Amino acid sequence: MWPVAEERGVEPGPQARQDGGGSRRSSDAGRSAAAAAAVTRERPSPYNPGRGSATQVPGSRSEVGGRLGTMARAGMERWRDRLALVTGASGGIGAAVARALVQQGLKVVGCARTVGNIEELAAECKSAGYPGTLIPYKCDLSSEEDILSMFSAVRSQYSGVDICINNAGLARADTLLSGSTSGWKDMFNVNVLALSICTREAYQSMKERKVDDGHIININSMSGHRVVPQSMTHFYSATKYAVTALTEGLRQELREAQTHIRATCISPGLVETQFAFKLHDKDPEKAAATYEHIKCLKPEDVAEAVIYVLSTPPHVQIGDIQMRPTEQVT
Ligand SMILES: NC(=O)c1ccc[n+]([C@@H]2O[C@H](COP(=O)([O-])OP(=O)(O)OC[C@H]3O[C@@H](n4cnc5c(N)ncnc54)[C@H](OP(=O)(O)O)[C@@H]3O)[C@@H](O)[C@H]2O)c1
Repeated sequence: MWPVAEERGVEPGPQARQDGGGSRRSSDAGRSAAAAAAVTRERPSPYNPGRGSATQVPGSRSEVGGRLGTMARAGMERWRDRLALVTGASGGIGAAVARALVQQGLKVVGCARTVGNIEELAAECKSAGYPGTLIPYKCDLSSEEDILSMFSAVRSQYSGVDICINNAGLARADTLLSGSTSGWKDMFNVNVLALSICTREAYQSMKERKVDDGHIININSMSGHRVVPQSMTHFYSATKYAVTALTEGLRQELREAQTHIRATCISPGLVETQFAFKLHDKDPEKAAATYEHIKCLKPEDVAEAVIYVLSTPPHVQIGDIQMRPTEQVT
């Protein structure tokens, strides 16, 4: 549609992360219970996972605006007015990345199924006076047809994509021994196939316009680099290992094609978003506990890594940024 007028689970949980750490866990028990109670009382907002919108917490909208501001980062000037596609921009990391890019003066097509959230963010960016624009696009990335329509709409209305941030992703609690095939397919379709289709289409868009300095950034995960002994994360982890291989394979193909288009992946540990609430959709207490046991990364931490990667001079290619919360063990 265009334009539309619309990890205790996956990333390793506290038990997997904390090897002992008893004092922190036990002292946090009360906080976890309180958070879980809050979750059952209030619907989490896309910017403020598991907590009521009345509470100002890290990662909330005003903080995101405050951290990056509208001052151009050195190295970001060359991206001004150019077009970035951010998948999964309806919340969490994707929303923070979309906002950060708009703050740096880019045109950003933000896509997801819940396009209303992106429209809300676009209105906020506009009223905040950010120099760029956020263009919401409704797209179900598990449908190739939807993805191709989106690229064709971008081509006809905005010429094409200069930066592709493959961020959309999900985890289902489907183990290898007894998980459902449909849960595996959901993860594979978005985390691996959609990322690959968007990458191919973004590259073709750059090539046909002779864009030689584009950038493809995959939001990977620490789960793409080690397997945590937590059964419900194993298939998810396999999809993220695929992202590690796809990013390096892409880098090699871009070299063979003699372009200067760059490929990077960013691999966060636990980030406080809606991710765990979707994984544990029947157990919000468990989801809330995911984010209570250690001080997690915030979506803006990842957004800042994206800005850093983009701001490096064209001869510098960052392959992978691995970023964990300081307190994360695995
Ligand atoms: N949170 C963490 O601890 C963590 C750690 C490492 C890596 N990551 C990775 O970071 C990325 C973003 O995750 P997050 O934490 O920000 O999670 P999130 O808050 O759940 O956001 C996920 C985003 O993906 C989109 N998405 C999912 N399925 C989609 C589909 N079929 N079509 C279109 N969009 C779809 C969602 O949009 P709609 O539902 O509106 O479609 C949403 O915008 C993922 O790739 C995840 O694997 C997360």
